[in-house]
Amino acid sequence: MALPDHFLQELKSRCDASDVISGYVNLKRRGRNLVGLCPFHSEKTPSFNVYPENGSFYCFGCGVGGDVITFIMKIENLDYIEAVKFLAQRAGLEMPENTYDDGVSKLRNRILEANREAARFYYKCLYEPQGRAALDYLHRRALSDNTIKRFGLGYSPANRYALCNYLRKLGFKDNEIVAANLAFKGYDGKQIVDRFSDRAMFPIIDLRGNVIAFGGRIMSDQKPKYLNTSDTLAFKKSSNLFSLNNAKNTGDRTLILCEGYMDVIALNQAGFKNAVATLGTALTSEQALLMKRYADKVIICYDADEAGQKATTRAISILRNAGIEIRVINIPDGKDPDEFIRIRGDKGPAAFKNILENCDNDVEYRLFKLKSRFDVTRPDSKVAYMNEALKIIASLESSVEQDIYISKLASEFSIDKASINADLKRMASQKNMATSRKEFISLSEDLSGRNDKINTEKVKNTRAAKAEEMLISFLIFNNDLCSFVKSKVTPDDFVTKFNSQLYSYILEKIQQGVSPRTTFSRDFTFDEVSKIYEIMSFYNSQAATREAMQEYINTILEEKNRLTPDKVTEMSLEEIKASLYKKKKN
Ligand code: CTP
Ligand code: MN
Repeated sequence: MALPDHFLQELKSRCDASDVISGYVNLKRRGRNLVGLCPFHSEKTPSFNVYPENGSFYCFGCGVGGDVITFIMKIENLDYIEAVKFLAQRAGLEMPENTYDDGVSKLRNRILEANREAARFYYKCLYEPQGRAALDYLHRRALSDNTIKRFGLGYSPANRYALCNYLRKLGFKDNEIVAANLAFKGYDGKQIVDRFSDRAMFPIIDLRGNVIAFGGRIMSDQKPKYLNTSDTLAFKKSSNLFSLNNAKNTGDRTLILCEGYMDVIALNQAGFKNAVATLGTALTSEQALLMKRYADKVIICYDADEAGQKATTRAISILRNAGIEIRVINIPDGKDPDEFIRIRGDKGPAAFKNILENCDNDVEYRLFKLKSRFDVTRPDSKVAYMNEALKIIASLESSVEQDIYISKLASEFSIDKASINADLKRMASQKNMATSRKEFISLSEDLSGRNDKINTEKVKNTRAAKAEEMLISFLIFNNDLCSFVKSKVTPDDFVTKFNSQLYSYILEKIQQGVSPRTTFSRDFTFDEVSKIYEIMSFYNSQAATREAMQEYINTILEEKNRLTPDKVTEMSLEEIKASLYKKKKN
């Protein structure tokens, strides 16, 4: 059953949106609103708005918006019910009994419970005779028993029914075990089979201490080397990082970003607790934003091989976009951090500390990599190198930063700084033209409704859709005029389906004496909620006059009766005649 309206009303009155949001985003007052850098996409100038008077937020950059519950869902990566629980706890409000166990969040909880039991089981197996080879393997990789315990490493038995049987005994149902991706349906379509067998197991733990997934390493040369949990209701690979639960507590706002589980664990054992890794995929901007909540600086520490260097280039651009300061570590002799530390034994930690302290920033790294591709003793190669280097420098946003590297280049190649600056200026103006053209195209697409994924009919009738949106906003801010508006315009008068449904929802809520703003986030999908708050954010509630309202109503009725090519093809000849006749009479 859904959460009752009155409970949500109480919750919202106790959880002030600007209060809650400012716990995550640095907000500054601008007029009646608060603005800040959006936590949901990368930006350098603030387009994230909080509207204290109606307890909502909207980002003009990425189009995410909603109420305080939507905000918590998104930032804490929770579903609706969990976000409500989270806020209720914060406000010291008791959750209503038995009303919130919807199927999805129940299954999600069961998945987390199954994962926790599985992690315990794997750990136990590691220290049984069957886990001997795995334990030896981990010891051979220089992990201490203490480290094994701290990371909860384990062993998944060779018997492919071991975990399924164990979990069944604890009361887990087959569908729950499969939903957790701990097992899959075997070839006969009936019996379920363990996903992980005969592997060293690495549990992945989220920021709240839940076991959300596993990575399993094979101990031979077979493939795949690592097998990971696929995305489940409780796990999204692209928005989690391995060991961030440990790294976030170190106090200094610096993270070391590695490629693999073993690198992170080896670094932890060597005292570098701020290491994290992606989960077998390339870095995503979601992960970058997540890191930004705990760090101002990220040190990229990928493998020295070609794949690692490619991934470094990619990571640099993603992290820069997120506004994170970057350092890049080059590990000598083509090793990964784990090997680097291991082969040095006792001296490993100090040696790693040394490279940490002497690493380049991202621009130095890129210029260095670039230079290795050119033979700068030859004039033509030197020109080509300078050109490429200038492209890198032109992409920097700070002119102070640009100036530093221009000076470096100038002195390195004994070239006049002024001529480098002139080249740079030319490049920058070309780039600006390209950007403003792109922005213009995207703005005109937005205005025409062509990019509207929720109200797909908007593009066919922008004028009607716009008036509908204005009337909807007017009603949201002026509940008292509901009966009047309703007597003039019915949902059937709306041209676009989404707006029509939204309009009837709002009428119904107001008639029940509930502000529709209380329940949008409960009754609409995440993207729909963003759309609704976008509509509201374009509306200036101060300018809400009855004249304006009358104008929206007139436009809606006019547009409804207008013949459009779409309508004509669906109408009979009689209907078309009738419609034309009616128009003349008006
Ligand atoms: N990975 C994966 N699936 C694979 C190979 C790798 O998910 N088949 C992911 C794992 O998260 C792994 C990371 O990519 O930790 C880095 O891979 P790689 O460099 O090949 O492994 P190492 O971390 O060096 O692992 P090991 O030291 O155990 O060989
Ligand atoms: Mn390795």
